Amino acid sequence: MGDLVLGIETSCDDTSVALVDQNGQIAAIETVSQYEVHSEFGGVYPELASRAHLEAILPTIETVMAQAGAGRLELRAIGVTRGPGLMGSLLVGLSTAQALSMAWDLPCYGINHLRGHIRSVDLEEKRLTYPALVMLVSGGHTLLAYLQDQHSYELLGTTRDDSVGECYDKVARTLGLGMPGGPAIDRMAASGTARIKFPRPMIHSGYEFSFSGLKSSVARYVETHPEFVIDDVAASFVDACLDVLGAKLRRAIAQKRPASLAVVGGVAASRQLRAHMQQISEETGVSLCLPPQKWATDNAAMIALATWDYIAQNAPQELDPKPNLRL
Ligand code: KG4
Ligand code: ZN
Repeated sequence: MGDLVLGIETSCDDTSVALVDQNGQIAAIETVSQYEVHSEFGGVYPELASRAHLEAILPTIETVMAQAGAGRLELRAIGVTRGPGLMGSLLVGLSTAQALSMAWDLPCYGINHLRGHIRSVDLEEKRLTYPALVMLVSGGHTLLAYLQDQHSYELLGTTRDDSVGECYDKVARTLGLGMPGGPAIDRMAASGTARIKFPRPMIHSGYEFSFSGLKSSVARYVETHPEFVIDDVAASFVDACLDVLGAKLRRAIAQKRPASLAVVGGVAASRQLRAHMQQISEETGVSLCLPPQKWATDNAAMIALATWDYIAQNAPQELDPKPNLRL
């Protein structure tokens, strides 16, 4: 039986394909980004995204198979993101995976993208211990979940409006920084001073998040302070985000007493966020698990690793797209 899973991720604006073994070792990976396709729109344009996936998907699969020198016999299964994501983009991955699974006579699992992000902490090296508290901060999602073990997920809270990543991207646009905004904000914030007191939405209540008020407040500040210092605005914005995320985490740690804390999703690539989480980990004595920085953003390796869980659970092979799939 083969010892690699072929993972395919096309839920948003990255076409990614990877071969990963059961221990999270990556035999090959290739990710084609669509930043250039979408940059003039200031956001992901769904029609163009699916067309770009369609062009990239087969060459990307060929590249990855060649990189690993892998053939059908090395493969145990195919795992492909089923949702959440853009309908047209998901369909490209799903139909390609389905065709390959028929041609190669392999099982094919439709994978929840959010479970993929959670598994990203175990890529290259096993890190997560249970019970775990997981905070997912990406462009599409912001949520807090409690995992009693590898297979049981309890959703504690999610965002009522914008995700953290969306907020980073929109503030970056307000400040005239390009796409993707997150890394630019992260860089700017490192050299600024957090001297502007932006609001900390919902900091004192439960596990729900809200970020649109913070985003508007930054836009208002920039409009009314033409002399604004970009680094300081970025640093103050990041400070507000981290305060909110940190407060919710501390609350959940006190209530759930997890063995470890995992922070995943694109914004977990932020150096500021990583440092802040490290501080919380040291304060509370809960060990911190972060994905390697390059695997925090969307990639097929995390989808392939999550597929191994579906195999172990003998999960149903569901290949219909689910744009609004929940954890
Ligand atoms: O996980 P991801 O690749 O896609 C989704 O599933 O949404 O997350 C993308 C988000 C974007 O909003 C991007 O600006 C943000 O992650 N991001 C970062 C950094 N790298 C990516 N935010 C802050 N600092 C970074 N270094
Ligand atoms: Zn993602």
